[in-house]
Amino acid sequence: MQARFRKEPGFLFLIFTIMNSEEPKKLRLAIQKSGRLNEDSIQLIKECGIHFNGRMDKLKSEAANFPIEILYLRDDDIPGYVSDGVADIGIVGDNVVEEKEKIVERIEYLGFAKCRLSIAVPKAMDSFQPADLNGYNIATSYPKITRRYLENNGIQANIHEISGSVEIAPSIGLAGAICDIVSSGSTLMTNGLKEVFTIYKSEAVLIGGEGLSNEKKLILQDLLFRIRAVNKAKNNKYIMLNAPNSKLDKICSILPGMKSPSILPLADSGWSSVHSVVQEDNFWAIIESLKEQGAQGILVLPIEKMIL
Ligand code: PRP
Ligand code: ZN
Repeated sequence: MQARFRKEPGFLFLIFTIMNSEEPKKLRLAIQKSGRLNEDSIQLIKECGIHFNGRMDKLKSEAANFPIEILYLRDDDIPGYVSDGVADIGIVGDNVVEEKEKIVERIEYLGFAKCRLSIAVPKAMDSFQPADLNGYNIATSYPKITRRYLENNGIQANIHEISGSVEIAPSIGLAGAICDIVSSGSTLMTNGLKEVFTIYKSEAVLIGGEGLSNEKKLILQDLLFRIRAVNKAKNNKYIMLNAPNSKLDKICSILPGMKSPSILPLADSGWSSVHSVVQEDNFWAIIESLKEQGAQGILVLPIEKMIL
């Protein structure tokens, strides 16, 4: 813990206050201060109906209408702070949780900040297989995950741990390959590198530490209920369509909905309006089948929250 305090100078006073204050009734959530997860983490909390000031220059903010405090931290430090109990829960990339090997529970995968930890080599190289890494120097900020991959695949290579700007390692002659996070791929491209294979897939995850008070467990349950309602809504769409009555059975079997579709008669006799919910995953296939069954005037709307 000492080492991390030194890395976060402005944070020392805050930690001191937290550790010396009486057991607070608010749940402390750590999110990334700046970087790939920051905006989506803030947006998720706001979509849960929790109002707070998300200014980047702050170390901490309190929600106005929910018993939660938000701490802004470097993502690499979040698993440690959660396992030490400085924060009760955190939102962080699964890749960081895996690398840090701190004792935390992965409570809920959140579906954003999807990325992969991949091996990349200079663009000019021909086809590159895992076995080609034998004898290579690999620069990475993820030495543990990389080492595990190499061991599991019987590859003998040297790992150079560096804490940032891994993508410049090949051009300065530090390593022949890198193992780094790839999201859009633009960092690799601008540095003349290409992704050759993936060793770990990641997305944002809500993590929690051990030993939460019963009071905080209840707050967490409430928060989780909201997060699930928000994320479920994102994966589903509300659908309305008109269908000839003779085709209603077929159309209802394509559209199971939450319980069963709602059917309302139209003024035009022999026709009904059908309302239901469809999943984003197989959305276009479902629309195709509905059209084949004679559905018309299909309207699709986003859902804000979904509570089952
Ligand atoms: C990763 C990685 C690259 C960038 C790749 O950093 O180190 O810099 O994202 O993204 P791209 O494929 O969209 O260009 P990360 O956001 O994890 O930041 P950090 O290592 O500084 O925490
Ligand atoms: Zn980081």
